[in-house]
Amino acid sequence: ASADPTAYFDAVIAADGKIEPRDEMPEAYRKGLIRQIAQHAHSEIIGMQPEGNWISRAPSLKRKAILLAKVQDEAGHGLYLYAAAETLGIDRAELYRLLLAGKQKYSSIFNYPTLTWADVGAVGWLVDGAAIVNQVPLCRCSYGPYARAMIRICKEESFHQRQGYEILYTLATGTPEQKAMAQDAVDRWWYPSLAMFGPPDTDSTHSAQSMAWKIKRFSNDDLRQKFVDMTVQQAGVLGLVLPDPGLSWNEERGHWDYTQPDYDELFTVIKGDGPCNRERMAHRQAAWDDGAWVREAAMAYAEKKKVTT
Ligand code: 3HC
Repeated sequence: ASADPTAYFDAVIAADGKIEPRDEMPEAYRKGLIRQIAQHAHSEIIGMQPEGNWISRAPSLKRKAILLAKVQDEAGHGLYLYAAAETLGIDRAELYRLLLAGKQKYSSIFNYPTLTWADVGAVGWLVDGAAIVNQVPLCRCSYGPYARAMIRICKEESFHQRQGYEILYTLATGTPEQKAMAQDAVDRWWYPSLAMFGPPDTDSTHSAQSMAWKIKRFSNDDLRQKFVDMTVQQAGVLGLVLPDPGLSWNEERGHWDYTQPDYDELFTVIKGDGPCNRERMAHRQAAWDDGAWVREAAMAYAEKKKVTT
């Protein structure tokens, strides 16, 4: 270790390099990454609930197969991310415990209900679309294991976004009732998807440090704007109306002006008082409790194996 313990770390960050698990790193960098990667992993796993809600009620075998694949992908994303978090010296069982104890978070977006089949389209198009905008820059984050997990996740995410868009396109070009169902879903998912990018930059507690460490590459507001610009065009092709009368192209800025989401609602949801927070956590707790016998059996088997071999 050099005289100045962070000399190596600072040089790698300055050179846009990658910090790897065995490298020296500031404790706050390690802790900040555990916080973000664990939250990201918890989000993927909890995110399986609103989507999984429709697997048994998908309108066709094709839609059921696609939705099954997508929900299984989310489980895989969770596993890649828990594995990335473990390279920072924390055990995934501890992360599950922290989540269930309310000491770690998951994305606000998954605390909203999926009321109709069109919601599966809106979640794919808007939520996975937002996730892609947020996750592509993370492929270049300074922590190696996280960046590499993101590369694979982003490839699968684009399939998720595409299938959601296609569901909405089918409905929007179907019967008037189907189009109304698609419009209703977009009305309910638009603002929560904007809020998913986090509080405004002025209220972001971690952005400055996270950007200095090249974990966060673009600010919450910059990514939110990028998402709006991209989505307005796609809504036009779908023939669906984004529920914001304030949307208007600003030639000077070269971006769409839009109405901000309700950040009080975001903080209320983050605090645990959103529409589905209790249901999502109860479901997660039940899955943990119901899975106890599998964990115990695996441990007993491993013990037995150790003794006999
Ligand atoms: N939901 C819950 N909490 C949120 C949030 C959200 N949408 N946005 C911000 N927060 C929390 C932060 O965790 C922080 O609280 P904490 O200090 O107690 O952890 C506080 O609000 C302040 O926000 P900051 O902007 O300072 O926090 P970050 O710098 O961490 O930025 C973030 C928030 C942009 C979400 C960032 O954490 C991030 O990029 N995380 C990784 C990506 C991620 O988690 N994506 C969303 C879910 S994954 C997904 O969508 C799955 C896909 O398959 C659909």
